[in-house]
Amino acid sequence: MKRIGILTSGGDCPGINATIRGVCKAAINHYGMEVVGIHNGFQGLLEKDTEILTNDKLSGLLNKGGTILGTSREKPFRKKDLAAGYNKPAIIVENMRELGLECVVCIGGNGTQKTAAKFVEMGVNIVSVPKTIDNDIWGTDFSFGFDTAVSIATDAIDRLHSTASAHKRVMVIEVMGHKAGWIALYSGMAGGGDVILIPEIPYDIKRVGEAILHRFKQGRTYSIVVVAEGVETDGKRRVAEYISQEIEYETGIESRETVLGYIQRGGAPSSFDRNLATRMGGHAAELVAAGEYGRMVALQGNEIISLPLSEVKGKLNLVTEDHDLVVQGRRMGICFG
Ligand code: F6P
Repeated sequence: MKRIGILTSGGDCPGINATIRGVCKAAINHYGMEVVGIHNGFQGLLEKDTEILTNDKLSGLLNKGGTILGTSREKPFRKKDLAAGYNKPAIIVENMRELGLECVVCIGGNGTQKTAAKFVEMGVNIVSVPKTIDNDIWGTDFSFGFDTAVSIATDAIDRLHSTASAHKRVMVIEVMGHKAGWIALYSGMAGGGDVILIPEIPYDIKRVGEAILHRFKQGRTYSIVVVAEGVETDGKRRVAEYISQEIEYETGIESRETVLGYIQRGGAPSSFDRNLATRMGGHAAELVAAGEYGRMVALQGNEIISLPLSEVKGKLNLVTEDHDLVVQGRRMGICFG
């Protein structure tokens, strides 16, 4: 019987539990494996903090936010630890051997994919699953969590319209995304944003001000500005605060800011994310069963495929100016900076 481990690492996102369920139910019930749940990401492998996952523990997970395994931002390959003689990777490899794990399924974002790739280079058997609301993992069209985060952000933008209209204000909303503008682009377009600022497209605050004044002169008494957290600022103020204050300075129109924050990461996944998580989880179990290690599952088109982790690591999936939503948005008069 194959005994495998599973861990979740990095920031959480909606759909992780659905993935755990997808991996484990297939592994246990279809492939006859035993699955060891590792607590708190790589931290759990360092401390051998684990539990056996049974069918009972896997029920009721589809719509549950967070991760039943817990997560951490533990990075075992941190140079500081190695330089101090604390060889975490070697401890983890030894612990995996002691726990009798033939392989570990790692569910995580870019940092996790990088760590997973390093373990693969050491000869460790890993299959990984991409997970992030930011959608910035290279090689997959979408990661689960993103669709849910976009829906939450879109709902927030929808709600800002009425209060912006009542007070004839500019409303600036800052959404997550790390260095990528995917959440801002998708929620900004779905929520009818008038200005969308993302890290991938340089902006000129004067042009943003002109766009808002132009709207004002046309009788549009309020504007909605959606900004990604990774957009450049003066380095002293938060993105939303900076953009809001600069717009007020440029236009003379009262501006207010909203930082949506962790609400984007919490709660139940959308049905799209649940199904994506289930498919990715099932394919991860399939790779494990076939002994195809060192790979990350991914969605390309409507197909789940897998890629070598060596190809994925260190790359980012960023918005490009020729993305259809940017092209169509510009044609409609939306200002991208
Ligand atoms: O990776 C998801 C994300 O939500 C980013 O958008 C954000 O910058 C980051 O995590 C913040 O997470 P934490 O505070 O947990 O490090």
